[in-house]
Order: sequence, then structure tokens, then C-alpha cells
Amino acid sequence: MSEIGNIKAQLIESPKSWLVTGVAGFIGSGLLEELLKLGQTVIGLDNFSTGYLHNLEDVKEKAGAKAWSRFTFIEGDIRNPGDCHKVCADVDYVLHQAALGSVPRSIDDPIATNQSNIDGFVNMLVAARDARVKRFVYAASSSTYGDHPGLPKKEDVIGRPLSPYAVTKYVNELYADVFARTYGMECIGLRYFNVFGRRQDPKGAYAAVIPCWIGNLLDGIIPTINGDGETSRDFCYIDNVTQANLLSALTEKPEASNQVYNVAFGEKTTLNELYTMIRDSLARHYPAIAKIEAVYGPYRAGDVRHSQADIEKARVLLGYRPTHDVKQGMEETVVWYVDKLTKKTKKTRQMKS
Ligand SMILES: NC(=O)c1ccc[n+]([C@@H]2O[C@H](COP(=O)([O-])OP(=O)(O)OC[C@H]3O[C@@H](n4cnc5c(N)ncnc54)[C@H](O)[C@@H]3O)[C@@H](O)[C@H]2O)c1
Repeated sequence: MSEIGNIKAQLIESPKSWLVTGVAGFIGSGLLEELLKLGQTVIGLDNFSTGYLHNLEDVKEKAGAKAWSRFTFIEGDIRNPGDCHKVCADVDYVLHQAALGSVPRSIDDPIATNQSNIDGFVNMLVAARDARVKRFVYAASSSTYGDHPGLPKKEDVIGRPLSPYAVTKYVNELYADVFARTYGMECIGLRYFNVFGRRQDPKGAYAAVIPCWIGNLLDGIIPTINGDGETSRDFCYIDNVTQANLLSALTEKPEASNQVYNVAFGEKTTLNELYTMIRDSLARHYPAIAKIEAVYGPYRAGDVRHSQADIEKARVLLGYRPTHDVKQGMEETVVWYVDKLTKKTKKTRQMKS
């Protein structure tokens, strides 16, 4: 059996208690859904700054009422140490996702990003230390590679950060390392590379490229590609990220703990290729979309030109085996957004009639 198969079987046999911060967000709600389906008990924390109640409602629908009864939601803020202590008491594992994402947001408001991503992170580390949790797994970021041109990215070679957001995510790694060495905590950082999938927010100035373009195309808006479209990223489907979190929390290999890992698929896709992939997937549901051409706009400040991960470290130490490449992930993602839109249209029609 695969490592993730073993771990899931172990969890079903002997359920644990988990804390997911940022649980109303895109990745946090994905983790919640998986944990509830595996029979786990989950506490979730969120302040709804970029997360939504409708994400939690969607998980409730997918996981079912019985699983939902094992979930406790606390509306609170990681900038408040009291909230962090409250949610860490009595949990075995912490999956810390709460943060203000987005490079442009951090350029617009570095203080807000610093408060949630660094102050909030230290509050969570202290609370997890005091509660003696078994392991603290946290969302790090590929932005830590900064201006280093080498490809594919290996965990031990980084450059200088290109944005306030990247600084905060690197500082997280430094703090986790110091807490591990100073207080004997077990911490694992996961450097996510451009995650996408169901429940990712398509709206707002800081929306990630995939939900933004899907949302544009479904709303009849012409999408804009920043730069010449040859910028590339290692797009990683949410199910691969969920797998990496479970493996990190449960690994029993001593050498696998207190590490950072790349979490990606391990291939790069240009924005031009990505646009074609999204448009073609959507056109299978709405044929008129096939004709829509994107327009090109200026490059975005703080963006790296190319990004691709080496995932060997996670493969070897954690047994990480991504199940979805970008194409497979995109098919599932598009189906989810189309289904959501269809339900919304039906509801509006029912309300009008
Ligand atoms: N999505 C990606 O491609 C990606 C890539 C690299 C790293 N990450 C990291 O992964 C994590 C999750 O990202 P996401 O894409 O799900 O973003 P998201 O915005 O959908 O989720 C973040 C959640 O954290 C909550 N939150 C923010 N500040 C908070 C605070 N002070 N107190 C309590 N809750 C707070 C938000 O309300 C939101 O629900 C973040 O740490 C992000 O930096 C994401």
C-alpha cells in the first residue's frame, strides 16, 4: 500500500484530534473536508478576512451531517494569543493555514500581512508549544525562492525575497526551526507552489489566476494575461496538498520532521498554456467560450518569471506521490465551478418564478 494509503487506514482505525487554522479559506476547507471524511475530530479557526462561510457550508454538504458533528468552528483571530491558546488545547495535530495570501496584497499593505503572517504565526507556535501538540504543520510558500534563478527549485537553495509576503513566509520557516531546536517542538513547513482547486476565491483584486480566469470566462469577461504569457508556474491541485499535510502530520520517520518540503506536481506550465487549458475545459460545458481570446497586460510587481519544484525530498522522506497533474486537476476544478454556477442559476430562477 502507498504511504498515504497506510496513513489513511491508520487514521480511520484510530481517529485523532486536529486544528485547522484558516479553515474557511480555500486550502483550509479542503483539509477540513478530507479530515472529516476520514472520521477525524476537527477544530477550525478563522476570522473570515479572506475566507467564507459558504466554504464551510459546502464542506458540510460534501461530508454529510454525521461527519459535520465532529467539527467545531471558532470565529477568532491568530493575532490574538488568547484565541490561539483556546483552539490549541486538546488537539493532537495543528495544520496552520491562516495567513494573508497574495504578493500584491502584501505590497499594498505590508503591515497587515506582517501582523497575520508573522505575529499571528508566532502566537500559534507559542500556543502549540504550550499545548504540547504532537506536530505543527504549516503553510510555507514557494515565494521563499525569491530571485534565485535555478530550476527546478530545491529546498536548500533560496534567493532574496521579492515581496513583503515572501519575507513573512521565510520568517515562518526561521521561527519554526528555532522553536524546534529551542523547545523541542516538531514542525514541518510545506512550501506550496500555486495551489488550485474547488472553493478557491474567484473574486476580488487579489484572486489567484486560475479561479480568476474561470470566473471571468463564466461571467463573459475577457481575461487578462500579465506580461507575454510565457511566465511559468508549477500549478498544484488541492488533493496533492491535502496528501502532503496528512503525510507530514503522521510521518514517524525522525529524519522527516523539522524540515521544509516543496509541495507541487513537479512540472511547469506557462500562462499561455494554462489559459488554453482552462478555456478548452470550460468550452466542453459552454461551447461559446472556445472562441474567447485573452488580452495581454503589464507584468505584475514582485512576480518571479519561472517556478518549478523538485519534489524529490517529499517523495523520499514523506512518501509523497501527487495524484493529479495540472490537466487532471483542472478538469475536476472546472466541473466544480460549473456545477456551482448551475446551482446558483437554478436558485435565482426558482426565486423569480
Ligand atoms: N493558494 C496558494 O497557491 C498558496 C501558495 C503558497 C502558500 N499558500 C499559503 O497557504 C495558506 C492558505 O492559503 P489559501 O490559498 O487557502 O488562502 P485563503 O485566503 O483562501 O485562506 C486563508 C484563510 O485564513 C484566514 N485568515 C487570514 N488571516 C487570519 C487571521 N489573522 N486570523 C484567523 N484567520 C485568518 C482567512 O479568513 C482565510 O479563510 C496561507 O498561509 C497561504 O499563504 C497558499
